[in-house]
Amino acid sequence: MDELRLTGDGSHTLYSPEYGQTYHSRFGAIEESRHVFVQGVRLEELLKRNETVTLLEIGFGTGLNFWLSARPFLTGNRRLNYRAVEARLLPGETFSRLNHARLLGLEEPFGAFLRWRAGIGPADNREYHFRYDTISLGLFHGEARRADYGEETFHAIYLDAFSPDCNPEPWAEDYLKRLYRSLKPGGLLATYSSRRSVREALTACGFCVEKRPGSRGKREILSAYKP
Ligand SMILES: C[S@@+](CC[C@H](N)C(=O)[O-])C[C@H]1O[C@@H](n2cnc3c(N)ncnc32)[C@H](O)[C@@H]1O
Repeated sequence: MDELRLTGDGSHTLYSPEYGQTYHSRFGAIEESRHVFVQGVRLEELLKRNETVTLLEIGFGTGLNFWLSARPFLTGNRRLNYRAVEARLLPGETFSRLNHARLLGLEEPFGAFLRWRAGIGPADNREYHFRYDTISLGLFHGEARRADYGEETFHAIYLDAFSPDCNPEPWAEDYLKRLYRSLKPGGLLATYSSRRSVREALTACGFCVEKRPGSRGKREILSAYKP
């Protein structure tokens, strides 16, 4: 059972005894998520386009990246189509203990999400749809490799599995190649990992990989561009 922990910016994260890791940086879950992912794929620029924004996340976890990304869409008139994969969707009870929605002022959509979550059973490699106002979430509940990502589907990708040493599958080159194909040309993939093996695998897939300064407690992170 994952354990609730408070991080440096006052937002919650979870510790997974199975992976021996927390879901976010202990220095600040919201701070990290905003810096690494939302800013990493330049969501603000995507929002200025006159089209539905399509994002893919590998590792939905607490849903923090989803809610942070959804917030500007809920207050504006742009539409967000968010697709996520998650092998172990957290129980509703665990979601409801997290303080993210309260800190982000999203209690109402989060309440709707919890009611939707209550209708989903164990992982079955199927996609479930949650819709609220201008946002839609397609959540593939199962093993990431079993999902179909299509070709040039997404404007941007968040790669947020646990680290490669304890969670190697989503970092394998053949899998990253599928993510590359699913990204639109000009799209960005953001990840918190800056390790050499990840950089090399992304480069081998065709990405132009750039190091960026990390959020508190992390020197470097990666942003990968599809030419
Ligand atoms: C670091 S946590 C994700 C944090 C999340 N993005 C958030 O904002 O809370 C990694 C997540 O990836 C999921 N995961 C790991 N390997 C997976 C796989 N092969 N297929 C699907 N999900 C996977 C884990 O269950 C976990 O929820």
